[in-house]
Amino acid sequence: MKGGGTVGRYTAGSRANHWLTAICLILLALSGMAFFHPSLFFLTDLFGGGVWTRIIHPWIGVVLMLSFLGLFLRFWHHNLWRREDSRWMASINDVINNREERLPEVGRYNAGQKLVFWLMSLAVLLMFVSGLVLWDEYFAAYFTVDQKRLAGVLHAAGAVLFCFILIVHVYAAFWVKGTLRAMTRGSVTGGWAWKHHRKWLREEIRTPAKGTGD
Ligand code: HEM
Repeated sequence: MKGGGTVGRYTAGSRANHWLTAICLILLALSGMAFFHPSLFFLTDLFGGGVWTRIIHPWIGVVLMLSFLGLFLRFWHHNLWRREDSRWMASINDVINNREERLPEVGRYNAGQKLVFWLMSLAVLLMFVSGLVLWDEYFAAYFTVDQKRLAGVLHAAGAVLFCFILIVHVYAAFWVKGTLRAMTRGSVTGGWAWKHHRKWLREEIRTPAKGTGD
């Protein structure tokens, strides 16, 4: 627990890691959309023109991969599926209708957050691997034309999947009032933790030394 009735949820390092990942993803989405359809080509102006956009896009992908790996290593163990997560999922109607008193007590993350986490991990991996196949500057000689065609489709499909997951993630961050400050200030109120992550709050109270985040 921290002072003022708040509970630590993320260290400064985790928050910096998170926002670097978010910035990379937004830059990748903007530059990637420029390649997606001619009507969006104007977006290359943001990156210094078509050639620069084509040069920079894969490198931002590399930074994203490394940055996401940081998030993955920090948080994967909090996202392991538990029996109460399946019960939470089965009660999704109560979640949507704000009847949280009917749900099992939630640990650090609820089942929805865990699903988002694993789907994001899958999408990043898919985007990265298919991106490497398409990166002719360095890997042209290693893949056949058919493999590159398949990679192109998977890269575009992965991007659509990622945008969808991201909309859910950002919507949830605003929908559940008081969540955003976890990623801006690093702490949440005791009331928020009691309402949404009661099992986690109990654990934090039992081991107060942990209460600085992560
Ligand atoms: C753009 C790419 C983004 C990625 C890859 C990403 C990824 C993540 C991950 C992995 C977590 C930890 C959750 C877990 O382990 O289950 C997280 C938490 C969080 N993210 Fe993002 N995020 C992104 C963008 C955003 C944006 C744009 C916002 C808000 C405007 C946001 C708000 C939050 C908040 C509030 C949390 C903390 C939730 C909690 O502790 O309950 N994220 N994010």
